[in-house]
Amino acid sequence: MDRKRIAAERAARYLRDGMVVGLGTGSTAYWAIREIGRLVRDGLSIRAIATSKQSEAHARRLGIPIVSFAEIDTIDLTIDGADEVDADLQVIKGGGGALLREKIVAGASKELIIIVDDEKPVEQLGKFPLPVEVVPFGFELAVRRLQELGCKPVLRLHEEIPFLTDNGNYTVDCHFGRIEHPIELHTAINRIVGVVDNGLFLNMANRVIIGCSDGAVKEWDKHGDAV
Ligand code: 5RP
Repeated sequence: MDRKRIAAERAARYLRDGMVVGLGTGSTAYWAIREIGRLVRDGLSIRAIATSKQSEAHARRLGIPIVSFAEIDTIDLTIDGADEVDADLQVIKGGGGALLREKIVAGASKELIIIVDDEKPVEQLGKFPLPVEVVPFGFELAVRRLQELGCKPVLRLHEEIPFLTDNGNYTVDCHFGRIEHPIELHTAINRIVGVVDNGLFLNMANRVIIGCSDGAVKEWDKHGDAV
């Protein structure tokens, strides 16, 4: 069984009738959306808000009712993937290029469940290059300021031209190797003019669900306890 799929299907058990649900982006969130589509087909009554155009299109194809922030103010539960997660449930996201919408949705959510396979948990964040979304105008300056924070910044490309997010921005992948002080780094990055946001999701996740290669599913609650 696919590790991402079993984590996603476990997370879908937390859905209840009447909820507004945040739909994540990426190959793990794909399975969650698929499972939510199945539950909706079987009668579950929810409304959803997506973190990317791709996830929204997927959800619509499955008949999941989609709403926007014009219609809702808070989200009951968001289920999303991650690139790295540590035992304090601190997370790096944005590998799939959707960090800004993901953070807006996570920030409006009463509960955020992160779904990953067993390669994503790490002792220390930073091996995965931290994605930073920057405005195209003057991005060269933002790249230099990011470098001054101690990383190797790499502009993300797609077919040899800058990759564009759903918001029309660029992504700079920042290779830190190790992130010793995530809170301070998050603040320093977001202070750079031209940076829109970065992929550190700190103190946002309530639960991490891990699909393992032996078919087991682990859940970490807010305190990093296996449950
Ligand atoms: C997209 C994300 C994804 O959730 C993250 O990159 C994990 O992706 P996947 O589930 O495909 O491994 O943050 O911006």
